[in-house]
Amino acid sequence: MRGRITIAAVLLGALCLLGNVHNFENPVSNPSIALFEMVEVPQPVRTILNRSCADCHTNNTHWPWYSKFPVIGSMIEAHVRKGRAELNLSEWRKHLDQGREEAASRISGICELSMTRTMPPTGYLALHPDARLSAQEIDTLCRWSTALQTKMQ
Ligand code: HEC
Repeated sequence: MRGRITIAAVLLGALCLLGNVHNFENPVSNPSIALFEMVEVPQPVRTILNRSCADCHTNNTHWPWYSKFPVIGSMIEAHVRKGRAELNLSEWRKHLDQGREEAASRISGICELSMTRTMPPTGYLALHPDARLSAQEIDTLCRWSTALQTKMQ
């Protein structure tokens, strides 16, 4: 019995130690290069993007408690890195620097991937049910995205 308790205590201690390995810090970027600063984004659109997309497409990721665990943490981190590389609303200027067409394709992607329910990813929705987009929210995103693309041409 005693042996088992010792083993359990050692395992728990090891888990706590490992748990501290993954403590992610969000990159700090100049607020003036964020999409919301550079482009007119109505409040309803901001609210949707902040709620459903910001964890992977901004530098303001809210890391869940389970991201502190090894393996799971690395998987989440890789996903966030990939998401930010494809579209980072906190660093909009970088997309603009790649050319207007590149930037416009990000804006059209926001509508297209939401409409096809590719984004937010299914696994994320399972853990963050609040991030699910209603049909009306998709419509709000798409109207804004279409209008902005026209302006960018
Ligand atoms: C859990 C993380 C996560 C969330 C939340 C998320 N995305 Fe993504 N997104 C990704 C990843 C990762 C990619 C890169 C493509 C891939 O691997 O599927 C991506 C790619 C994209 C792209 C493609 C960029 C391009 O044109 O090449 C767009 C647009 C996009 N996401 C929009 C959204 C929108 C809009 C939301 C919210 C409604 C959202 N995403 C929520 C992870 C996420």
